[in-house]
Amino acid sequence: MKTSLRCSSIIAAAIVGGLILNARSQDEPGLSPYKNPRVPVEQRIEDLLARMTLEEKVEMLSGTGFDSKPNARLGIPAIKMADGPQGVRINFWRPRRGSTRTNAVPVPSTAFPCGSALAATWDTDLIQQVGRTIGQEARTLNKDMMLAPCVNIQREPQGGRNFESYSEDPYLASRMAVAYIKGVQSQDVIATVKHFAANNQEFERNTINVKVDERVLHEIYFPAFRAAVQEAGVWSVMSAYNKLNGAWCSENPHLLTDVLKNRWGFKGFVVSDWGAVHSTVPTANAGLDIEMPRGEFLTTELLSPAITSGEVKQSVIDDKIRRMLRAMFSIGLFDRPESQGGEVDTPEQRAVARTAATESIVLLKNAGDVLPLSPQKVRSIALIGPNATEARVGGGGSAMVRPVNPVSPLDGIRLRAGTIFKLTYALGCELEGENTEGLPAQTQADLINEAASVAAAADVAVVFVGDSARVESEGFDRKSLELPSGQDELIEAVSKTNKNTIVVLNVGAPVLMGRWIDQVPAVMNAWFGGEEVGNAIATVLFGDANPSGKLPVTFLKDWKDSPAYGHYPGENGAVDYDEGLYVGYRFFDKHNIEPQFPFGHGLSYTTFEYSDLKVSPERVAPGQPVQVRLNVRNTGTLEGGEAVQLYVHDVQCSVDRPVKELKAFRKVTLKPGETQPVSFTLDKSALAFYDATKRDWVAEPGTFEVLVGSSSRDIRLKATFELTK
Ligand code: BGC
Repeated sequence: MKTSLRCSSIIAAAIVGGLILNARSQDEPGLSPYKNPRVPVEQRIEDLLARMTLEEKVEMLSGTGFDSKPNARLGIPAIKMADGPQGVRINFWRPRRGSTRTNAVPVPSTAFPCGSALAATWDTDLIQQVGRTIGQEARTLNKDMMLAPCVNIQREPQGGRNFESYSEDPYLASRMAVAYIKGVQSQDVIATVKHFAANNQEFERNTINVKVDERVLHEIYFPAFRAAVQEAGVWSVMSAYNKLNGAWCSENPHLLTDVLKNRWGFKGFVVSDWGAVHSTVPTANAGLDIEMPRGEFLTTELLSPAITSGEVKQSVIDDKIRRMLRAMFSIGLFDRPESQGGEVDTPEQRAVARTAATESIVLLKNAGDVLPLSPQKVRSIALIGPNATEARVGGGGSAMVRPVNPVSPLDGIRLRAGTIFKLTYALGCELEGENTEGLPAQTQADLINEAASVAAAADVAVVFVGDSARVESEGFDRKSLELPSGQDELIEAVSKTNKNTIVVLNVGAPVLMGRWIDQVPAVMNAWFGGEEVGNAIATVLFGDANPSGKLPVTFLKDWKDSPAYGHYPGENGAVDYDEGLYVGYRFFDKHNIEPQFPFGHGLSYTTFEYSDLKVSPERVAPGQPVQVRLNVRNTGTLEGGEAVQLYVHDVQCSVDRPVKELKAFRKVTLKPGETQPVSFTLDKSALAFYDATKRDWVAEPGTFEVLVGSSSRDIRLKATFELTK
C-alpha cells in the first residue's frame, strides 16, 4: 500500500513538475514550488501533496485542541483557530498550582454585538466592516481561522444559541453571512460557516435526530450555507452535532458530499464540531475533512487499515488534504510570519463595535414620542434594573468574548448625560446566579418597592432588564420565554409609579411582554450589544443617533403562537420539523396570528414615506431580471436610517408557498425632507421554489406580487408582474 502511494505521488509530482517549471525558474533556485508564493495555488497543492506520505496526510485529518497539526518535515504550518462570532474568542490554559489541571484564561479582544443584533442592523456594509475588524484582530492574535459565523435559523424562540445566529429568515441570514465572511476573509483569515445543518436547538443537541423535508432544507435551513459557499467563497464549513434525517451531520454523504461539495461546488474543507464525529469509515467517506478537537476516529490507527482494505480510498484522503491546503495557500498561511503583531480593541475597532451596537438597537414602541429624552422635557431620570450596571455583552458558551472595557448602560448614560439630568439608581431585582456580594440582604419585594419609589421621584424611569449569559447560552435552551428572575414584576411595579417608564431590553431572542407592554410607553431592544452596549443605549436614548434597527425575528405574544409549538423539543431522541416551510413570519402570516412585534419591525424618531413603486417589465421572460424602483422620503425632522424591505408573493403556483418571503432589502439614510430612489433587481432566486423531485429550483409562470414595506406587517406599496412561459 505504502509503495503504491509513493508511486502515485511520484507520478503526480512529475505531472505537476511540468506545470510549475515556468514559475519555478523565475524564482530562487531550489525553492520547492509549494513554498513559492508566485506559483498558482492549485500547483502548490499538487506539489506538496506529492511530497507527503500517506501517514503525513492522515496525521493532518485531526486537530490538537484548537489547531490543525503542523508538519515539521515539510514546513506545513498549523491552522490556528479561534471561536466567534462576536469577536475573537481565545482562552489560554494556565496550569493550576500544585495540580496537573489547567484553568482557562480568556484573552481580551473587542466584543461585537451578537448575531441577532448584527442582523437587526440590516446593514450589510457595516457587517462586512465588523467581519473585517474581527479578521484583523484574529491576525493580531495570531489566529488563521475563525469558527464563525453561526447561521442556523432561529426556529424556536427558546433556542439557546439563537442570539449567536442571525434570523428566522433565510434571506436575511444569507446576506449577513456573506457580508461577515467577506469581511473576515478579506484579512486572509479562514471563516467557518456553522453548524451544518439544522442545528437549531440545544436540547439534546449532541444526539437529536432532526427530521426535515428536503424542500424545507433547501428553502429555509440551507440558503445561508449555500450563499456562504457560492457568494462569499467561505473556506470552511462546520458540520453540526445533530443527526439530520437519521444520519449524523458529520457522516452524512448527502449533506457533505452531494449537496455541499458536488452541487454547491464547495472548494474548502469541512471541520467537525468539537466532538461531533462518531465513526471512522462512514465519516471519512461522507466528506468530513478534519476531526476536532482531536483525533478519536480519524486517527492513523483507525484510518490506515481502512485505507489498506480499500474501505477508504486514497483519493478520498487526497481530496481532504487538497481542500485544507487550498484554504491554507489561499490565505497565505505558508508565506507569512507567524504573527503580524499589532493591538486589539483599538479606538478604531471599538468604534466599529459601537456603530454596530447603535445600529442594532430596535425601538419597538414609542407612544407619545416619550423618546428621545431631552432636557426640555425631562429633568430627572431613574435608572433601574439588574442590567443597568451590567454590560450585557453577549450570550454564554463558545461565543463569549472577554472585552477589555465593557460599558454598562449606567456608565454610558452617566458619561453622556450625567451633568445634564439628575440621575438616580435602584437595582430592582437580582438576576439569578449573579454575583450579588456586597449587597444588603434585601428581599425581592424590598428591592422592587425601593425601585418603585425611586421611579416615583423621577420624571422618567428607564428599566434595564433582560437575559444574561447564564440565561441565553450554548448548551441548553431557555426554560421560559418570560423575563427571568421577577423582572416582569419589577416593570409592572415601576410603571405603576411612573407613567413615563421606558423598558430597555438586553435579549438575544424573543421574550414575552404581555404582562406589561400596555403599561409602558416605550420599549427598545439593545440585544447583547457587545462591549459598547452602554454607550449605544445612551446614544439612542438621548437622540444622538436615530434608531434604525429592525427585528430579524418575530416577537410573539405567546409560546402557543410559535410555529415550533407542538414540534419542539421532540421526543425519543428525534424532533420533527412538522411546521415545514412555515418558520417565523411565514407561519404568522399563514395562520393570521398577531405577533407582539412582527419580523422587520422597528421604529424611528423620524417618519418615512414610500411612493412611486414601479416594476419593469410587467411581463417577464424566464431568466430575465425584474427591476423594482421606488422612492423613499424622510417626512420627519431628523436624519434617520430605514431598512426598506421587499417581499415576494407567488400568486399562482402548483405547490403550497408562503404568503410572502423577504427577497431584497436596502438600508438608506435620509436627511429631513430628502427623497432617495431605491432600486432592486430580482432574479430567478427571488421567484423560485425548490422542487425536491427535480432536485432543482423552479420558477413557475404566472403572477407575482411585489410587496414593499417598512416591516413584514407594514407593507406600503404593491405591484405585480407576470412571469411568462
Ligand atoms: C460549538 C462550536 C464551537 C466549538 C469550539 C462547540 O461546542 O458548538 O460552535 O466553535 O465548540 O469551541
